[in-house]
Parts: sequence; C-alpha cells; structure tokens
Amino acid sequence: MRFDLITIFPQMLQTAVNESILKRAQVSGKIKIFVHDLRDYTKDKHKKVDDKPFGGGPGMLMSAQPIVDAVAKIKGRRKAKVILTCPTGKRLDQCLVKTFAKEKNLIIISGHYEGIDERVRKLVVDESVSIGDYILTGGEFASLVMVDAIARLVPGVLGKHESLHCESFEENLLEYPQYTRPADFRGLKVPDVLLSGNHADIEKWRKQQAHKITKDKRPDLF
Ligand SMILES: C[S@@+](CC[C@H](N)C(=O)[O-])C[C@H]1O[C@@H](n2cnc3c(N)ncnc32)[C@H](O)[C@@H]1O
Repeated sequence: MRFDLITIFPQMLQTAVNESILKRAQVSGKIKIFVHDLRDYTKDKHKKVDDKPFGGGPGMLMSAQPIVDAVAKIKGRRKAKVILTCPTGKRLDQCLVKTFAKEKNLIIISGHYEGIDERVRKLVVDESVSIGDYILTGGEFASLVMVDAIARLVPGVLGKHESLHCESFEENLLEYPQYTRPADFRGLKVPDVLLSGNHADIEKWRKQQAHKITKDKRPDLF
C-alpha cells in the first residue's frame, strides 16, 4: 500500500514515519510512504501557500492552487483516494480505517492555518476526515494517526506476535484487562482464572470482562 502525505511540515512527518513499526513496514516493502512539501508546488515566487479569506475574518487560508496541483502531480495516472484532514469531516473510527485499508493508494492532505479554500474539497478531495471533536493546530498529527491505524491492517505489517484481532473495537467491544509478571504486584493479584491454564475459562472470563468494560465505558458501541 502506498501513502502520499502532503504537508507544509515535511520533517515532522518524516521523523514520525521513520520509527518503529511504520519504519519496519517500509523496509520490508509492505507499505510505501512518500512525504511531499506543499511549497514545492506553489506558483508563488515567495513559496507562499496561504492567503487572506474573502469576506474577512481571522487568520489565513491555504490556497487552492498548490494543493490541487500537488494532488494532480502526485496522483499522475494512478487511482488514488484523496483524504483531507478536517475537523468538519467524517469522524475516524475502526470501521472507516478498515475501509481505507482496502485502498492501494492514499493521498492525505494536512491542512493548516484557519483551514483550506473550499474549492480544494470540490476539485480533488474524496473524503474529509476528522480524528475527533477537538481542534489541532494542523493536520500533521491527524495524517499520522490515519497512516498508523491503516498501515497496521495491511497484511504483513504486524509481526506474528503482534495482535490484529482481539483488539478494542473488534466486534464493537473494548479489550479485556491484561496482566504480565509478577502475579502479585504491591498486593494487587492477577485474577486466578488467568493462572489456571484452563483456556476455555480464560476465554469466557475475557469475553465477560470485555462486555462489562464496554457497558461501563462505551455503551454507545453496543
Ligand atoms: C486550526 S485547524 C482549522 C480549524 C477550522 N478553522 C475549523 O474551525 O474547523 C487547521 C487544520 O488542522 C487540521 N485539523 C484540526 N483539527 C482536526 C481534527 N480534529 N481532525 C483532523 N484534522 C484536524 C485540519 O487540517 C485543519 O485544516
């Protein structure tokens, strides 16, 4: 799977995607991540990518030209889904992540300033996506959240000891509590069932716990 990330802070994204599992997945060729500096696509001789909003108002907006040209150039003849990071977009959840993970090519645009000229959405964006009901200073972290969540669903990205199933949000449940050694830490004991070696009982306990935690913390998931 290929990701193309458009940003005015390329270093911020490069640093993050070249660590840990995302780095390993790129080295093994399971995913490709290209980071593009939006300023390379502006026709402004001072490399400006923003301008004042028509009608007045605070701050600056990202201009349409650099983004529209960047998407066209990066896309070329490939078929690619274009995602805009945007607080007014569809809220990201595991279901949407799974849908995106089916794509071969994703282009993700990080917005900045007060946002983006609306015509960008009309001309090149397939889906606007929000990572939650709060405002970030820019779309870089939102892009990274998406890349990370989507990439781990690409076959082979997670190692055989890293879980893809039994995670929170699978089957609309939160994950059950887990413990590692020691069995007694500061007087807090691991539930007996997990030490019993009885896999059927352990499975049953985990299911019950997942239901209980989901009911308590996120009843909306049911
Ligand atoms: C300061 S925000 C602009 C907020 C905009 N004026 C509004 O009220 O909706 C700048 C950029 O950060 C990104 N951003 C901010 N919050 C986000 C969120 N919750 N999800 C995804 N992207 C976000 C978007 O790319 C946005 O264009």
